[in-house]
Amino acid sequence: MAPSSTATSLPVPVAPIPSIDALISRRAANRTFKHFAASITDGAPKNFKPHPKPLALSFGRPNAQYFPVKKITVEVDDYPFQDTLFKNEERSQKPVVIERYPEDSELLGTGEALQYGNIVGLPAFHKFLTNFVQRIHSPAYDDWEVTASNGAGEGLNKVADALIDPGDVVLFEEFTFSPFGNNVRNVGGIPVPVKIKFQKEEDDGISADIDVEYLSHLLENWDELKPELKGNKPKAFYTIPTCQNPTGLTQSPETRQKIYNLASLHNFIIIEDDPYGYLTLPPFAVPDVESLKKHDVSIDDYLQNHLVPSYLKFDTEGRVVRVETFSKVFAPGLRLGFVVGHRKIIDVIKKYSSIVTRAPSGPAQLLLLNIIDQKYGGIDGWLEWILKMRLAYTHRRNVLISSIVNSEAYKLGYIKVVSCDAGMFASLLVNFPQGTDNIQKINLLNYKLLQHGVAVVLGHKMAIDEDFSEGSSNFLRLSYACLDTDDELHEAGSRLSTAVKEFFDNGLEY
Ligand SMILES: Cc1ncc(COP(=O)(O)O)c(C=O)c1O
Repeated sequence: MAPSSTATSLPVPVAPIPSIDALISRRAANRTFKHFAASITDGAPKNFKPHPKPLALSFGRPNAQYFPVKKITVEVDDYPFQDTLFKNEERSQKPVVIERYPEDSELLGTGEALQYGNIVGLPAFHKFLTNFVQRIHSPAYDDWEVTASNGAGEGLNKVADALIDPGDVVLFEEFTFSPFGNNVRNVGGIPVPVKIKFQKEEDDGISADIDVEYLSHLLENWDELKPELKGNKPKAFYTIPTCQNPTGLTQSPETRQKIYNLASLHNFIIIEDDPYGYLTLPPFAVPDVESLKKHDVSIDDYLQNHLVPSYLKFDTEGRVVRVETFSKVFAPGLRLGFVVGHRKIIDVIKKYSSIVTRAPSGPAQLLLLNIIDQKYGGIDGWLEWILKMRLAYTHRRNVLISSIVNSEAYKLGYIKVVSCDAGMFASLLVNFPQGTDNIQKINLLNYKLLQHGVAVVLGHKMAIDEDFSEGSSNFLRLSYACLDTDDELHEAGSRLSTAVKEFFDNGLEY
């Protein structure tokens, strides 16, 4: 784990604090929105005095007595994998009960949640999101806002709409969550890759990080290095800072501070997409369920020493937009997430939401919030659940990696594990000899993997520009999130290693 201090000897930004308005896309800035039921006060007679309690014959919102769902009782697990990995832990039997009109006015009821809701989230949910950001990633300036979204994918699309005009350049980590490339191209933006460097470590492992020197040099010498984009410097940098998808890299706080300084100096926005940020993991060790709980940490210890600070923490100018999701820390089917950023950026996102998606699903907010309130007792209890997920991911990563590092293919040096200290992905470098056509050979190797019965993602399939990244396309992304049992994870690692060995033994042929 990287220490959570910030670097001291970094270049200090010299550019004046820019106007946020100039960073918003023309499309978003010029968008108008009218609603037929909005209250009209323009042109009211001078002596007009509205009634304090008008009876609404205006809205098409059905009375809550029309909703067939009156009360929901939810049984909630105390641990992930509680019948296997944590089968010896104590359980509480108390269900979560959600009434139509809860007596506790702080709780969200079915009556409210099944009704039309606010764009930014139902009031109780929006308050929870704001408190959560304040508690965990409070930005270094005041004028920030939060809006709920339908998950990170949807939040990211709205961020692209809010910021990117046709012809705007967006920097991407060269291997990335490529769907965001589609969002950027959809609004006419131009994705440009930034190098990721893979480095040999003393323990013979491999680490990966953003090549900050490359990025700095690119920005300094933009017109010479990118003559086709002369005078068109980047508007934004899209980054997945923790458990980068697909490489698994986690940026240290120092790297984040340096990149923030570059953003400030060259006036671009940082779009921080952080679905795996909470799942920071202790270093790889031989899997051992009995001693897994020794990695349990207190909430304070976790927040201070394990959770890597969000870019929001470095943001003094409102140039970071953070996209979060409940997909990886609760359940993707909720389709729930949120976006945090400068109020002006969130304002244009809200306006767009009111045209496209409107409010996120009320039942999704209802379920999440009531479980957090009633089962976990609020934010810190919710973090406790995340810490249990962290232990479960630690164990599953250890099972998969140990199966690989004990294999012949690994011992013969055919594969190397890229250090993976967060989230749900590990990447493996395949040690092809110098001069190999990485993409051609890794595609061929994939057939061998499939023949042996193991499915992975090929790194180059997530390259933003395959030609740019050909030289470092010799890696595979492995997810330890989806299989059911330890035995399956172990078997997957062993099938993979056997397939690689066979491929090398056969002179890199199928
Ligand atoms: C980096 C990254 N961003 C966004 C998403 C999409 O998340 P959501 O399910 O919240 O739309 C994923 C999902 O895998 C992801 O890995």
